[in-house]
Amino acid sequence: MDTVIVSIDEKNPDEEAIKKAGEIIKAGGLVAFPTETVYGLGGDALNPESSKKIYAAKGRPSDNPLIVHIFRIEDLYAIAEEVSWEAQKLIEAFWPGPLTMIFKKKACVPYETTGGLDTVAVRFPVHPTAMAFIEAAGGFVAAPSANLSGRPSPTLAKYVCEDLDGRVDMIIDGGNIPIGLESTIVDMTGEVPMILRPGFVSFEMLEEVIGKVGLDPTILDANCGERPKAPGMRYRHYAPKADMTIVRGADENVISRINEMAAGKEKCAVICVSEHVSEYPGITVKNVGSRNNSEEIAAGLYRILRECDDEGIETILSESFSENGIGAAIMNRLVKAAGHKILDV
Ligand code: TXA
Ligand code: MG
Repeated sequence: MDTVIVSIDEKNPDEEAIKKAGEIIKAGGLVAFPTETVYGLGGDALNPESSKKIYAAKGRPSDNPLIVHIFRIEDLYAIAEEVSWEAQKLIEAFWPGPLTMIFKKKACVPYETTGGLDTVAVRFPVHPTAMAFIEAAGGFVAAPSANLSGRPSPTLAKYVCEDLDGRVDMIIDGGNIPIGLESTIVDMTGEVPMILRPGFVSFEMLEEVIGKVGLDPTILDANCGERPKAPGMRYRHYAPKADMTIVRGADENVISRINEMAAGKEKCAVICVSEHVSEYPGITVKNVGSRNNSEEIAAGLYRILRECDDEGIETILSESFSENGIGAAIMNRLVKAAGHKILDV
């Protein structure tokens, strides 16, 4: 398949290109597009054949459900049932934005889209190009992150092209992505709303709006004996090709241990905060941003993991970062990338 690549400037959108992208979706094709979190791989959420194509293009197991993206709140009620008062408050506070909520699905949402589940994940993104595209596409776009299964989610169009060129009809290059980590997922179908995947909308932010919020126990402890409720969180995700270890502890201990571990290793990289770049002489250093700026760290993390792959890095040693606010999401993804290898020093 020939993939058309178009650039769309969100401040000055090319309406013809957006219309074309919408027509591709309506005809059952696939379009990768920017959102505020990561690039998405879109298809018509109400067309079972489109969802099958998404799984095939990504190389993703078809029991792993897709998120349905909408461009206005009223469309939620066409696909979801039992929208609670908590959900209404979260909609008011965080939509459009990087929050996905899970509801009981209506019959019009095919099981091909929900991975066989009776629930549907719904997200209303705030990125202007995403909104215009979803509208042009008919209003309901199923979209996982636009990476091949198992690779870090793409935060730049060049990474979408690397993974999906020849596998989708169109890629919309919207430039850099502001957040850089996937949306927060909250399951609204239980007694207490429960976070299944941490993201930019943090536990504290949710709690402030609705009071009680639960956390899927597998987010804190992968070995707690339970299965993650978001099927996608069960797979080894976000994995760079290198063998990766997180070193955690007081600064001096972390720095000296990483230097020891890196000694004599050829294709080794260190992921560290900007305050520490000069602490690792002679080692390839990946500066992920200032320790005082978690947003910067979130935005840079997946790019750095991909750069390590591109440079043939075989060992990654990473500092560990604050777990406050979006830090919980950063550490969740980092720990998964490291296959849960953490060294306390
Ligand atoms: O920020 C995002 O959410 C991005 C952009 C493109 O919007 N999308 C994204 O999609 O991260 P994906 O497919 O990579 O991750 C969706 C996650 C998976 O872990 C999946 O298992 C979970 O959402 N999920 C989807 N529907 C679900 C459902 N009905 N119940 C439980 N988990 C669900
Ligand atoms: Mg993904």
